[in-house]
Amino acid sequence: MRIRIGFALATACAIAVAACGSDNGGSSSPGNASSAGKSTGATKGAKAIDPGLMNGAKGTINYCQGKDTSGNVVAAVKKFNAMNTGVTVKLIEFSTSADEQRQQFVQRQEAKSGECDVFDADVIWTAEFASQKWIYDMTPYIKSRESEIIPATLQTATYDGKIWAVPQTTDAAFLYYRDDQVKTPPTTWQQVYEEAKANDGIVYQGAPYEGLTCDFLELAFAAGGKVLSDDGKKSEINSPANVKALQFMVDGVKGGIAANGVTTYMEEESRRYFESGKATFMRNWPYAYSLGEKKGTKVAGKFKVMPFPTFEGGGKAGILGGHNNVISVYSKNPGAALKWIDFFTGKEWQTESFDQFSLAPTIASVYDDPAIQKKYPFASELKAAVSQAKARPVSPVYPQISQAIYNNVNAALAGKVTPADAMKAADAQITKALGTF
Ligand code: GLC
Repeated sequence: MRIRIGFALATACAIAVAACGSDNGGSSSPGNASSAGKSTGATKGAKAIDPGLMNGAKGTINYCQGKDTSGNVVAAVKKFNAMNTGVTVKLIEFSTSADEQRQQFVQRQEAKSGECDVFDADVIWTAEFASQKWIYDMTPYIKSRESEIIPATLQTATYDGKIWAVPQTTDAAFLYYRDDQVKTPPTTWQQVYEEAKANDGIVYQGAPYEGLTCDFLELAFAAGGKVLSDDGKKSEINSPANVKALQFMVDGVKGGIAANGVTTYMEEESRRYFESGKATFMRNWPYAYSLGEKKGTKVAGKFKVMPFPTFEGGGKAGILGGHNNVISVYSKNPGAALKWIDFFTGKEWQTESFDQFSLAPTIASVYDDPAIQKKYPFASELKAAVSQAKARPVSPVYPQISQAIYNNVNAALAGKVTPADAMKAADAQITKALGTF
């Protein structure tokens, strides 16, 4: 496997990423992540895990997560079950779409079903799940592991002053590019689109779902936009910066620079499009790296990855993605559930899952492993990007906020509404959602 990155640019960005937080609108927390740690009493009375339950735990538990697109979880379950710990894990795969995964878990929790002992929760669902009291307070377990975990990823598991989940994998997206077509990596998004126009275009996630919220906010935050006010109480989505970012995306679709079907693409459709050699650029998460380099793709050995460039007139920004393991309060075997989590999120497996599947670890020291550094020269840049990436808004009504973003952004991309009208509509819908709790 050949692994390369635009080094000069990556290094420049590793430094600039740190500036990303401060050069786009003055707020260090457009996602209002800082409020996650303060205790508001919203989760009073929630069940806390007893770490001692792990000792001697036995039985079979179900692990629910989205489709295993990287192959990581199938390999982990196989290894864990072969260890004969007395605990057996059965994998239940949900949809590839983040929104559908959430619905599948929420339906089970609303029915008080114990089917998913452990669920792989997207980083954006902590506030909702905790405030619904659907998951265990994991603070007593995480205490002993806190120092090894990247603080930004731990923050995504924190709500109301408690830690509800164990960070399993983190995500900061890359710009993938064909280095047989692009000789000098572009330094601005505007240049990316120019290069894309001169070659085979760009592909990203434009379908109306969570992925589009990420793709849009990466540009919007870089342009200087925000979603909520710093206190998290008011919508600030309808701003000139956000309209500008959306106009930029719309122009890309209208000008035929973005892939034809982009308004219907999620991560996997984008990955397959890029792997079949049809696009010069792709925005995607790190998991697509190791799959893209596999024999049989049309791009193996012909692409590099780079952190996001600057938005002209603004700065750089990345969105923090990732997944955390939570234990359902309806699980009949929380001890066995924790035993699996302890393995799956532990250093040994995180090293394996970075090595084999290019999934970004939540344990800081894994990035510094010499073998990993050799295999993935971009490991340090990825760690910096993860540490500096911006959180999406932390709110029990985050799903509604995100829907307001992706539905209206998608409508603008599809040419149904103007960017200005899309942001106006998103503003009204976010304001309504904020009024419901
Ligand atoms: C990835 C990210 C997650 C994000 C999702 C959007 O799975 O890790 O945080 O919400 O993509 O599709």
